Amino acid sequence: MKIISSDLQTMAVAPKGYPDDGLPELAFAGRSNVGKSSFINAMLNRTNLARTSGKPGKTRTINFYLINEIFRFVDLPGYGYAQVSKSERKKWGDIIELYLRKRDNLKAIVLLVDIRHKPSAQDVDMYHWIKTFGYDAIIVATKADKIARGQWERHMKIIREELEIEGNDFVVPFSSSKKLNVDKLWDIFEPMLIQETLEG
Ligand code: GTP
Ligand code: MG
Repeated sequence: MKIISSDLQTMAVAPKGYPDDGLPELAFAGRSNVGKSSFINAMLNRTNLARTSGKPGKTRTINFYLINEIFRFVDLPGYGYAQVSKSERKKWGDIIELYLRKRDNLKAIVLLVDIRHKPSAQDVDMYHWIKTFGYDAIIVATKADKIARGQWERHMKIIREELEIEGNDFVVPFSSSKKLNVDKLWDIFEPMLIQETLEG
């Protein structure tokens, strides 16, 4: 995929703030600090388009990135961050759920998990939820640069088993810092996003 343009189009917490057109969207879900915003930057070859942080809880709104004027990446707030109040956590959960439930533009969901760790109960819930609603899921195992390449397969197996990954869903190791598997993921994303555009 050749990226000609990528811009933050808008930020929203409620449906009335979402872009009001039919462009296809790919949404990124996962625990706080797993690397969602870093993933978006790496895929778009930008250093600081999506704001990242060493501290979890950076992205607190739904951020819509318009790419090549024809589709969007949607950065969701991370879940599972213990350091915020219960009411604040519920608010983020509601923001995410409302988007995932109501958004016709949504074509598939990318679930990011840290390759080093067993998926959390919330990751498992999120994956099952994605499947219950009939979406394709792409599982991206982030921070692969933090373990030896020889360990990847063992960790990916744990992820596959813990999430009970269904046959057609991909699990792809990824590293934002090393730009690992950027092209492979574009090959997976492209037909989900472009075909829709051609069909109108
Ligand atoms: P929230 O916005 O809080 O939900 O977090 P996020 O999922 O958007 O995470 P973010 O992209 O802000 O990254 C969190 C931290 O992980 C930052 O310090 C990143 O530099 C680091 N990080 C992200 N991806 C990678 C990676 O592939 N490798 C390494 N080594 N660090 C990474
Ligand atoms: Mg973020």
